Amino acid sequence: MKKTKQIEENAIMINKYLSSKLKGNPKKLYDAAGHLIANGGKRLRPYMVIKSCQILKGKTSNAIPAASAVEMVHNFTLVHDDIMDNDEMRHGVPTVHKKFGVPIAILAGDVLFSKAFQIITDTKLSTKATTQLVSRLAKACVDVCEGQLLDVKMAEERKIPSQAEYITMIEKKTAALFDVSCTMGAICATTKMSDILNLSSFGRNLGIAFQITDDLIGVMGDPRITKKPVGNDLREGKKSLPILMAIRLAKGSNKRIILKAFGNSKASKKDLSRAVDVIRSLGIEENVRNQALKYAGQAEKSLARYSGPAKVELISLLDFVVKRSA
Ligand code: IPE
Ligand code: IPE
Ligand code: MG
Ligand code: MG
Repeated sequence: MKKTKQIEENAIMINKYLSSKLKGNPKKLYDAAGHLIANGGKRLRPYMVIKSCQILKGKTSNAIPAASAVEMVHNFTLVHDDIMDNDEMRHGVPTVHKKFGVPIAILAGDVLFSKAFQIITDTKLSTKATTQLVSRLAKACVDVCEGQLLDVKMAEERKIPSQAEYITMIEKKTAALFDVSCTMGAICATTKMSDILNLSSFGRNLGIAFQITDDLIGVMGDPRITKKPVGNDLREGKKSLPILMAIRLAKGSNKRIILKAFGNSKASKKDLSRAVDVIRSLGIEENVRNQALKYAGQAEKSLARYSGPAKVELISLLDFVVKRSA
């Protein structure tokens, strides 16, 4: 499933804005901060800010600073996440800490985080709306940190979490930022609480569907398309939905092969690829995709009372998110 022309066009607009804001000295710090942005990324969150503003008949230019801010926050989370997850590749290039070292990567993340809040005030919106944007984005960042802690804690523990515990974790680490993207887009267009809540619900449910699909791609995807290695979630002992399902379902030697790689930092490439093959053979993909579709359905319902081109684009984004393979 390919990105739509609208997603691509929006990305070009946001990239221009981002690159104008990510300049300064020492140059290395800004190169590190812009490294992942320069080498790829889908810019889905800014797209959601812009479309959420448009669906409520807001002016696009009012939403550009918030859209760019959320992409900066997203990249901040990626830079720090790759340190936490010991990941060496993203977007087909070395991760920021691999290329620039951990100290610069931490600072690059901090710059992205801080600049996000600086640029969000580059708008002509009322002081009240701007304060709302800052407050909502800050709250979402706290949620992401809480979710990331849950992710790390679950990976450390031997206990296999329930599906409900997994959903709570991804709701915080991922869906919070999708939620706030739509919430901020709505705030850029209106003060009407029912509209803001509808868009918030759309973003949250889409975010859950997104992470479920991402976790599926993380074990079953084709690394040539995803541009990140498969098997890392297994090695790190990540309690992602496909892994939880696979551990529950596998029996005998299949289970032993999975458990040999799972949470084993010394697992060889061969151990990991054998475990990935076993997981692929268990036929859980449809089940995982159906879970993602359930949340996508909830997201769609949140937009029931709206119409127009921005609605059509948000619904196609939903389709892209659940069908994507990269
Ligand atoms: C990756 O998000 C991090 C997760 C929440 C799984 P994206 O897939 O949206 O990141 P980009 O497109 O590489 O920026
Ligand atoms: C996604 O993290 C959530 C955040 C980055 C906050 P993951 O660890 O699940 O995502 P990938 O696989 O590194 O993109
Ligand atoms: Mg990660
Ligand atoms: Mg992670």
